[in-house]
Amino acid sequence: MAKRVYLQTFGCQMNVYDSERLKSSLLSQGYRMTKTPRDADIIVLNTCSVREKAERRAWGRLSEFCRYKQKNPEVVLVAAGCMAQRLGQALTEKMPYLDLVVGPDRILQLPEYLQNHPKKSQLAICSSRNEFDSQKIWEKEVLPHRKIRFTSFVAVSRGCNNFCSYCVVPYVRGPETHRPIQQIIREVQLLARSGCKEVTLIGQNVNSYQFEGKDFADLLQVVNDQTDIEWIRFMTSHPKDLSERLVEKMATLPKLCEHIHLPLQSGSDRILKKMNRGYTSSDYLKLTDRIKKRVEDVSLSTDIIVGFPSETEEDFEQTLKLLRKVEFDSAFMFRYSVREGTKAAQLKDDVPEDEKLNRLHAIIQLQKEISGRKNQRLLGKIFEVLVDERSRRNQNKWKGKTRSNKTVIVDGNEDLLGKIVSVRISSSDSFTLFGEVQHQIFEKTPIN
Ligand code: 5AD
Ligand code: SF4
Repeated sequence: MAKRVYLQTFGCQMNVYDSERLKSSLLSQGYRMTKTPRDADIIVLNTCSVREKAERRAWGRLSEFCRYKQKNPEVVLVAAGCMAQRLGQALTEKMPYLDLVVGPDRILQLPEYLQNHPKKSQLAICSSRNEFDSQKIWEKEVLPHRKIRFTSFVAVSRGCNNFCSYCVVPYVRGPETHRPIQQIIREVQLLARSGCKEVTLIGQNVNSYQFEGKDFADLLQVVNDQTDIEWIRFMTSHPKDLSERLVEKMATLPKLCEHIHLPLQSGSDRILKKMNRGYTSSDYLKLTDRIKKRVEDVSLSTDIIVGFPSETEEDFEQTLKLLRKVEFDSAFMFRYSVREGTKAAQLKDDVPEDEKLNRLHAIIQLQKEISGRKNQRLLGKIFEVLVDERSRRNQNKWKGKTRSNKTVIVDGNEDLLGKIVSVRISSSDSFTLFGEVQHQIFEKTPIN
């Protein structure tokens, strides 16, 4: 009988993408996926280690699985992804019930490891921290198996060379490697043919994409011109690598959506320097001003870390000030947490936890006000919305996104699913817009 796999994913879009590819690879080799760990012969947790909280969550879940395995010793238990890569052997020493520990660059080899798994409760650690392995990941063209059909992530690069001082990603995901352009086009076109409407091109720092003389702006042009996808998004952008040409593409390419995620991290130049971000607050402000001027109706989102080592009240004030000036549409805000092995781990983590929390609450509150205000300005306006899900709260409502990446809730029926429709905004809060469908802009029948 086919072995059944339960796969759970924590973390960023890249992890989601890796899991989708793993799923596809497992299915093609005769495995079946299950919805609960209780029905599974194999349990896989794809982990994240970007912040301490993410790792704590993964530890908690793995511990639950270990307790389950204690009673069900025939189950094979796998820890995959960034935390698996970071802790390797140490993870199995703390959790002897783990059978396999697989880093992100080896995740597609999991079916082979499972096949060759000689005896349960044995260990196969995969460490893959060299360029050869990282580039090799592109050789295997496995298309992801996706849950939602209308919007998909497509990886354009993996890894990161930036070494922001607080960040563990360059250590766990290794150096940046770029996916061959033709592979990207093939994947986007296959998605478009199967009814997908929108792709988000993902990478830790998409702006530094380079392949055979083509940069990220060129890649966007090619995806725009050579595929039938309706909308194109991308993330994440590093402010230091965002070129004038890219801003130009955002202003002119019809398929490219008007949203940019541009992590600021801090508004204090002193802290930005310690973070090794490679720009000042005034560089950042100039850049966002240019984007706003050139790209009509653009929306901006960001990431902020509060409580980085030595951050004073004054530094924090600078961050609040910049938030007010830029007026982001939304922001992900985090408390600094020490990541072992990073440059910042050598600095004293000297902002007390309760102070970090106070700052976090203050900045969340400010951003909530800004987002609320910005959303209110949209009342009465009409936007194109790609409807991609039923609302979780109300079965008769549907959820979609504007080109500017704002969530919109509309009334309607199942026919809306996967369509790009015109919506008039009637009310809003800080996180969501609510509106009425005006008329359909267009509809394409998926080609199977
Ligand atoms: N502590 C807190 N936040 C972090 N991030 C990355 N590393 C840390 C850390 N050590 C945040 C950054 C990054 C986002 C993905 O996670 O804001 O942009
Ligand atoms: Fe981490 Fe900086 Fe690379 Fe982003 S750009 S993944 S924050 S090192």
